[in-house]
Amino acid sequence: MRGRLQVPGDKAISHRYAIIAALASGPSRLSNYAPGADCHSTLACLRGLGVNITEDGTTVTVMGRGRLGSPAGPLDAGNSGTTMRMMSGVLAAHPFSATMVGDESLSRRPMRRIIEPLGMMGCRIESQDGRPPLTIHGTKLKPILYMSPTPSAQVKSAVLFAGLQTPGTTTVMEPAQTRDHTEQALKSFGGTVHVEDGGKRVSIEGPQTLSGQHLTVPGDFSSAAFWMVAAAARPGSRVELEDVGLNPSRTALIGVLRRFGARVTVEPQGESGGEPRGTIVVEGDRIGRVDIAPDEVPGLIDELPAIAALAGHGAEVSVRGAAELRVKETDRIAALVAGLRALGIAADERPDGFVAGEAGRSTVGAGPADACGDHRMAMAFAIAALAGQSPSQIVGADSVVISYPGFFDTLGRLVA
Ligand code: S3P
Repeated sequence: MRGRLQVPGDKAISHRYAIIAALASGPSRLSNYAPGADCHSTLACLRGLGVNITEDGTTVTVMGRGRLGSPAGPLDAGNSGTTMRMMSGVLAAHPFSATMVGDESLSRRPMRRIIEPLGMMGCRIESQDGRPPLTIHGTKLKPILYMSPTPSAQVKSAVLFAGLQTPGTTTVMEPAQTRDHTEQALKSFGGTVHVEDGGKRVSIEGPQTLSGQHLTVPGDFSSAAFWMVAAAARPGSRVELEDVGLNPSRTALIGVLRRFGARVTVEPQGESGGEPRGTIVVEGDRIGRVDIAPDEVPGLIDELPAIAALAGHGAEVSVRGAAELRVKETDRIAALVAGLRALGIAADERPDGFVAGEAGRSTVGAGPADACGDHRMAMAFAIAALAGQSPSQIVGADSVVISYPGFFDTLGRLVA
């Protein structure tokens, strides 16, 4: 693997900028907006709520309107859990009812985690036994102190967006720190949030008025992760990734790859909107083993599929404390194990993780590995398949459009 490239804009940050821009007053210009389908689902929902949005390539202009308008029909979050959960928090404080729907995968995902705190604030949400579609009966909310049982930035953000529009102080406490893009983004749009206890306790005093901004989204670390892993897995490789977001709540993979035996260099290049960014260079050197402990999981939850791909390259990979993977776009523990096995790699499920690969043994080829409609499964299987002496087949590879539409073209360019 050899090359220098820029990955698409960060998905998590793009969702937040679009939502906050809609709630701000005046226009916002968002450059390098994530090109994947998920962030377009957020734009579609905002348009359904009367927000005027124009797109020119990856530059998105949002005409902020402060309060959103009542939708004429259901809002479609597509495949995007982040859209549905964060928009529920926004809608909870609006004086109308709105229904949010999603695709087959999203319709299976758990929503009680936001129904409960938003319910405590006074919002009634109808669901199908805790799953989408959701009908959110927005109302005047009351502030709460919410102790979230699971670390989840989506839940934290839903409560903070509701709190933003609610008189009084709303606080979210989490058992572990999760990505803080919502906190950074609110500040960038002129808002105030109080962060304590190493990021595990966040408060917002509402209501606040935000103002439109010009912001540039950094490259998505979770997309860069696949190239970082690919370079680490192939000794002699060197991949340079420019302008990647380096928010410390997202970058735990860097330490994992160094432990594994890769040389990883990070050249910070400042920050924008509270989000540090820079160039990451990964050089493959040694093939080690990888053990992921439960306390590391929140910092690399979306990188676990990429890490699993190391098992194709003669590495043993063990992951614990990651039961949350079972409620992502698909059951990622079951899908990873089934897909790796289909590619000829030893793999076993654990209730909260998996073990995969055998030290020094690389036996990849054939398939088909089923991506189960999950973008990160498709990309993980592709990186595992780089070890093969013969071609590997991936079913449902087009799901990469969710976060990385040009993934396979870039893969073709990077293979030395
Ligand atoms: C996200 C948070 C994480 C992550 C997801 C995006 C976000 O989900 O897995 O891809 O943008 O806040 P959880 O909040 O469910 O942990």
